[in-house]
Amino acid sequence: MNEFRAEARLMAAAEHEEKGLLRFLTCGSVDDGKSTLIGRLLYDTKRLFDDQLTTLEKDSRKYGTTGSDMDFALLVDGLEAEREQGITIDVAYRFFATEKRRFIVADTPGHEQYTRNMATGASTADLAILLVDARKGVLIQTRRHAYIASLLGIRHVVLAVNKIDLVGFDRKRFESIVADFEAFAAQLELTSIVPIPMSARFGDNVIGASPDTPWYEGPTLLDHLESVEIAEAGAAGAFRFPVQWVNRPDLSFRGYAGTLAGGSVRPGDPVVVARTGQEAVVERIVTREGDRLLASAGAAVTLTLDREVDLSRGDILAPPTDRPEVADQLAAHLIWMSEEPLLPGRSYLLKSGSATVGAAISDLKHRVDIEGFKPLAAKTLNLNDIGFANLSLAEPIAFDLYDENRNTGSFILIDRFTNATVAAGMIRFGLRRATNIHWQALDVNKEARAHAKSQKPAILWFTGLSGAGKSSIANIVEKRLHLLGHHTYLLDGDNIRHGLNRDLGFTDADRVENIRRVAETAKLFVDAGLIVLVSFISPFRSERDMARELVEAGEFIEIFVDTPIEVAEERDVKGLYRKARLGEIKNFTGIDSPYETPLSPELRLPAAAGDPHIHAETVLRYLKAHGYI
Ligand code: ADX
Repeated sequence: MNEFRAEARLMAAAEHEEKGLLRFLTCGSVDDGKSTLIGRLLYDTKRLFDDQLTTLEKDSRKYGTTGSDMDFALLVDGLEAEREQGITIDVAYRFFATEKRRFIVADTPGHEQYTRNMATGASTADLAILLVDARKGVLIQTRRHAYIASLLGIRHVVLAVNKIDLVGFDRKRFESIVADFEAFAAQLELTSIVPIPMSARFGDNVIGASPDTPWYEGPTLLDHLESVEIAEAGAAGAFRFPVQWVNRPDLSFRGYAGTLAGGSVRPGDPVVVARTGQEAVVERIVTREGDRLLASAGAAVTLTLDREVDLSRGDILAPPTDRPEVADQLAAHLIWMSEEPLLPGRSYLLKSGSATVGAAISDLKHRVDIEGFKPLAAKTLNLNDIGFANLSLAEPIAFDLYDENRNTGSFILIDRFTNATVAAGMIRFGLRRATNIHWQALDVNKEARAHAKSQKPAILWFTGLSGAGKSSIANIVEKRLHLLGHHTYLLDGDNIRHGLNRDLGFTDADRVENIRRVAETAKLFVDAGLIVLVSFISPFRSERDMARELVEAGEFIEIFVDTPIEVAEERDVKGLYRKARLGEIKNFTGIDSPYETPLSPELRLPAAAGDPHIHAETVLRYLKAHGYI
């Protein structure tokens, strides 16, 4: 633990002294020797703490797989266990230094979640070490990692042809692997590719030149890491300050806390709030150690401004002459990191800098095929897939293009329910289309229309299994409302699927789209002042909540028609359960497709028992009690 904190401190120190700092990551398949290489670098550069060494020697003797030698992989894996718990992303950053340079290496564990971890580690790295097992050569995994690295803006690659000792230090083998790699890497945007034959286990060409590869004239790994020239992005770019929180301890002080995501700032600099264009001048740069006259990328500070502006978490401060884009539609590369496939139309949370907004993939343009780097048509993205898509956000955000700023140009997508990070995104451009379509202010509004009908418009959203009794109850409710002189409309799953949604089936993605269209339609009817009854299985919580969020508070009444599957199946009004059991219908809700029970519906109707009229009565009583009718 102490070691971890010490490491964190050193890293923080290095952040402020950008000069001479190289961030890199290692990637490769599980047995390519990543851990061994990192262990070797840490060990040979003598940055190891003594107690770690002792443990290492002990563990090597106990569990080592390398005979009497020290097992460097054990060292790294041991450190891993010490990592802070509770972080979503599994990347450990390690710090070491030589006289020439400081290094931060992102150690991204392998296994299935590899792409996810790699994307996280790579988003701040300048260089990637791609490990290849000399016996196996360039694998599909190598291509994938190289592609992701280039996608994430890494321009320098070391092709570490590892375990060269196991192929007898064979020059031909090395050269053919290099030729293989270079042939496809030509399609990537890389500035430098440096191939090095090495043995991480024995240290050949890692720190010192190997006597067994006299034919190799290039640098050792450390030589190269110490000397490779990296374009300084951070501090040189435009000033960007995503506001993390407003610091207001008392009425006399109001500051904006955050970490500079680009460029630098001094007191007296004019700034704007990117989203609104409001102007101000920076007064002070406050830190715990006192005021500063300059802060640059990476520094965590509190800024005060010379006037009151409307500014909250998620806003970006920028120079008036060099502003980020602001839009609610954008095109981005996505790296899908979840076992759950992408559902176009579903509302995810998009987090970019300090901003969090609802976002849906409005158009998946293509998936990238790693074999030939060709765009392929795709309906969804699965774990480790890379795609290009348009996203539509619930409200505009300020952002940069990823090529210009890796901080303000990237985002993650989060599942609203599991809170899991499902994708990493790199913004390629903003789409202005929607920005120029403004809302038309209409004189006859919802209130006016509803008033004329003496009712409060709302959506009565009936959800439940097929055959639960949704439509029967909804039907009775509508009849009763009609008799009472109310204006209603009923949207029914089976009926809508014959018209508006005739192009949709029952895959998860199609159901999401089904509900999205119905929710939007219901919203229009609410705007027309009607009481809308919606009767759809609507099996996913996300989409029901999305529908709820589309309308105003109080306008969405979720009615869970709670019939156990055994009862619905027993009734089997349409004979569909029988077909589903026979396998004649696929993706049938409750059988081989999930139903997510509502967590807090406004009404729950135990419809297995009782006459549908009684349940309809319950709904009407609710509407009266809450002033809808
Ligand atoms: S939803 O899941 O997308 O909300 P929706 O309510 O529109 O479903 O349609 C459900 C109706 O379609 C069912 O009542 C049933 O009659 C029919 N249906 C046909 N195939 C399926 C299936 N695989 N799963 C569920 N319902 C199906």
